[in-house]
Amino acid sequence: MAEKKFYIATFGCQMNDRDSEIMHQLLNESDYAATADMENADLVVVNTCSVREKAEQKAYSLLGSLKKLKRRNPDLIVAVTGCVAQQDGENLLKRIPHADLILGPQKIYDLPQLVKTVEKQHAPQTATELNSAFVIPPFLPDVESGSQFKRFVTIMQGCNNFCTYCVVPFTRGREISRAFDDIIGEVSHLASRGIKEVTLLGQNVNSYGLDSKDKCAACASGEKTCRSTTNADFPALLKAVAQIPGIERLRFTSSHPKDLSVRLMKCFAEIDNLCPHFHLPFQSGSDRILKLMNRRYTAADYLEKVRQLREIRPDIVLTTDIIVGFPGETDEDFEATMYLLEEVRYHSAFSFQYSDRPYAKSADFPDKVAPEVKSARLARLQKRQSEITLARNLEYIGQTMPVMVEGQGKADNQWSGRTVTNHIVNFTGGSALQPGQTVEVEIEEGLLHSLRGRLVG
Ligand code: 5AD
Ligand code: SF4
Repeated sequence: MAEKKFYIATFGCQMNDRDSEIMHQLLNESDYAATADMENADLVVVNTCSVREKAEQKAYSLLGSLKKLKRRNPDLIVAVTGCVAQQDGENLLKRIPHADLILGPQKIYDLPQLVKTVEKQHAPQTATELNSAFVIPPFLPDVESGSQFKRFVTIMQGCNNFCTYCVVPFTRGREISRAFDDIIGEVSHLASRGIKEVTLLGQNVNSYGLDSKDKCAACASGEKTCRSTTNADFPALLKAVAQIPGIERLRFTSSHPKDLSVRLMKCFAEIDNLCPHFHLPFQSGSDRILKLMNRRYTAADYLEKVRQLREIRPDIVLTTDIIVGFPGETDEDFEATMYLLEEVRYHSAFSFQYSDRPYAKSADFPDKVAPEVKSARLARLQKRQSEITLARNLEYIGQTMPVMVEGQGKADNQWSGRTVTNHIVNFTGGSALQPGQTVEVEIEEGLLHSLRGRLVG
């Protein structure tokens, strides 16, 4: 019998990308093989995101289109994972009756088992319990498929912050830190197989370890060895990971400004291989809106942290997330956001129109901003940010920077790679470069989305 084929479509954040890699590996280790051709797959996994209305619509639209495939192949298994699966649970079947499997983010490790149950029972299965005592399992990544030089490593799941606009605490649950030794084990495994860059992932990495101080997950599950004796917090974890031989570049995402400590800032001066790029979402420049968002910092607090960070590491590149049109946002509030944009001069920013999300408190807030006002504000903000991004990128002209090669560029005789600041650089001059190799590139041009240069030395 021919091997069964699976296809995974992924929406959303890097946490979801990593979850998809894990599911890919688990299915590969069962009796499925990956295909790039969704139309001919026996199992389609749609790993969804519900952070904004648009992301959810995209996932539902793909799921809706799978009805046609299912009609052609009634044995096709449609699995829905990720945040929409968690958020809608069994109700999802009303909209997508052809779904066979609905799995929340904590349940991805059960995917192969549940696929077998569907194959046997021909009945939809749902697994969406969120358990606050969940232990992120130790898991050694397969380095055969995927990038041969950079990887994501999940260090925590969930969020305790309850920003009023956000669905994540309801889809990913409360913060759960992964065992220190498991993280070190995973990164060491990757490094020993040639991986040079790792990005540590969590919804709010700054609070890594805070949940395990008085509650060791291993002890709670009855294991003899306590795995949290180190009681490492995030700066301690960063230092330990940075020392693993072979790790040339270390990154992390994402952080909440209220938890950004001076100890963490100092890591950017103390740890040589920690990349000088910080994604620090500010969301709004208005104190009134920040309060309504339950962000627990003011614009002045935020700017002070930026000042300190830049004092400690002057070449640090800052990026951010911004929401426009939060309920009640006036022209004056929006101007405060524009002011913050000018003050910080981010290298780049992700900006979004506010949308109501299920379970999020702000869905019930009054004074919703009209769609045309939201889109006009977003357009103005994005136009200004593009100008700042371009001006920032022009500042690199004439500098020689180490670039980690990712592969060949789009043009002939061109290579593409990234700086430590995560800028994409397309450059000429090399032959037979290897992905993962670091070369020196002189920057000759700054564009909106990339830099251009030539190999030196
Ligand atoms: N509406 C618009 N943007 C949102 N984000 C989160 N929730 C919402 C929402 N309800 C944005 C925030 C967050 C990013 C991942 O998505 O800016 O940092
Ligand atoms: Fe989307 Fe947030 Fe879920 Fe990531 S955690 S998939 S961004 S809703």
